[in-house]
Amino acid sequence: MIIENQNQVTEAVLAEVQRIENPRMREIASAAVRHLHAFAREVKLTEDEFRQACTFIARLGQKTNETHNEVVLLCGSVGLSALVCLLNNGNNGQTETTANMLGPFWRTESPATENGASIVRSATPGPPLFVNALVRNTTGAPVADAEVDVWHSSPEGFYENQDPVQANMNLRGKFRTDSNGRIRFRTVRPAGYPIPVDGPVGDFIRLQRRHNMRPAHLHFLIFKDGYKTHISQVYVNDDPNLETDVQFGVTRALVGNYIRHENEQAPAADVTGPWYSLDFTFTIEPGIAKLPRPPITSKADGDRVQLEILKRG
Ligand SMILES: [Fe+2]
Repeated sequence: MIIENQNQVTEAVLAEVQRIENPRMREIASAAVRHLHAFAREVKLTEDEFRQACTFIARLGQKTNETHNEVVLLCGSVGLSALVCLLNNGNNGQTETTANMLGPFWRTESPATENGASIVRSATPGPPLFVNALVRNTTGAPVADAEVDVWHSSPEGFYENQDPVQANMNLRGKFRTDSNGRIRFRTVRPAGYPIPVDGPVGDFIRLQRRHNMRPAHLHFLIFKDGYKTHISQVYVNDDPNLETDVQFGVTRALVGNYIRHENEQAPAADVTGPWYSLDFTFTIEPGIAKLPRPPITSKADGDRVQLEILKRG
């Protein structure tokens, strides 16, 4: 169609979008076009601003490679990942859920590990942490024989696949729930870590004078036929950044009770100083068990990178 005025641009594009055969794709594409055009009208986007926005989006792609995903980082930093998670879990956003975002650091082949064993696979600082997790379904019954993938960053702020210093698969393990729906493992207490701010996402965070920290957490992915794959993070209750997570991931249901033990016998004989324990219950929902695609695929090599920490101003 030959366009007579600015309103007709939207009509022309929407008419073409209607040609998409798949109804769901058609619905998504037409809503995206409507909202995008409405956004440009609402803010009266100038040509300069539009070019800047195009540059910003192109930089997201240029910054993304096998060991880093800037697009996932941006989606987290504008709360879109958190929103999509909450819309799709807890009976489609109706009830509280223990689901959370996947984040960029999950790997598929983490080593099968016996219940009770340690996932510390190379020298890692930090106080011991003993985790006891229960997987139950929405009726409250324990779910036996579910695969539970666990991963977290080192107390120095790096996942092993970002960090050439750590052994392959350090702080990762795959467990199976026992007949009572439980897994147990030993690790070190996680610490909060900064997200990288050397790309366009960093520019965006600086504009808002936010810090770039994620509060300390453990990641979980629970897989069992007949259930929607349950992706979760359990946050450390005394972390100073729970209220200001740069990725908006912290929900009330996911603040774990990490208990410090000073003078009690730990579950392992070699522990001498203070240690921590965490008991946590996940509720998984009926649905389709399928694994996501890992956002990044390879392990970093060379020197450990320096992560910049921004202060909230
Ligand atoms: Fe994480």
